Amino acid sequence: MRVDIISIFPEYFSPLDLSLIGKARATGLLDLAVHDLRTWTHDVHRTVDDTPYGGGPGMVMRPEPWGEALDAVLPSGPPARLVVPTPAGEPLRQSLAHELAAEPHLVFGCGRYEGIDQRVLDDAAARARVTEVSLGDYVLFGGEVAVLVILEAVTRLLPGVLGNADSLAEESHAHGLLEGPVYTKPPVWREREVPQILRSGDHGRIARWRRDEALLRTARRRPDMLAALAPDELDKRDVAA
Ligand code: ADE
Repeated sequence: MRVDIISIFPEYFSPLDLSLIGKARATGLLDLAVHDLRTWTHDVHRTVDDTPYGGGPGMVMRPEPWGEALDAVLPSGPPARLVVPTPAGEPLRQSLAHELAAEPHLVFGCGRYEGIDQRVLDDAAARARVTEVSLGDYVLFGGEVAVLVILEAVTRLLPGVLGNADSLAEESHAHGLLEGPVYTKPPVWREREVPQILRSGDHGRIARWRRDEALLRTARRRPDMLAALAPDELDKRDVAA
């Protein structure tokens, strides 16, 4: 996968050399470049923002540097997917992470201040598929941290990035449920025992227990997720639980 990131703070992205994302880059699974938006300014102050039309607090990112940056970074061939983090965007869910992981080329545009002049996104929509994405119902200083989050959610879904792809099948959100509790050795720690069933070797009962724990945890913590589950994702034994 090819990824381009445009930001006024390229230094925010140094963690992308670390851990499994760093490894994905080193092995060529992820071809990533970070671009400084100010490269495409032409005044001595390298200005990227100005006051909002219509009044109001804060500053808005000017269209000219963004237009030139996207002209340089968006390919002329098959349209890339332009992802712009904003609290006004579509919520980031595992389904969207899967969708983005299937793209050959993602371009991330990091807004700051009150956001990017709307004409930039309207103009880019002629050459790219534009998706505005929100991490949640709160406001960050800018899109940089959101891009780190989105990119981590996407990269771990790329084939070959995770050592054991089975972990993707069992984790929280894989089947519209939260994952239940997990345990490792020792079997007793501070007088707390690992549930006997997990040590029974009975794989059928263990699978059922895990499913029940996932249902209970989801019901307690995220009743909205349980209510949104398609009827065919529940079986008869789930309903009994
Ligand atoms: N930029 C500022 N706040 C944000 C949020 N909640 N999600 C994505 N990008 C943002």
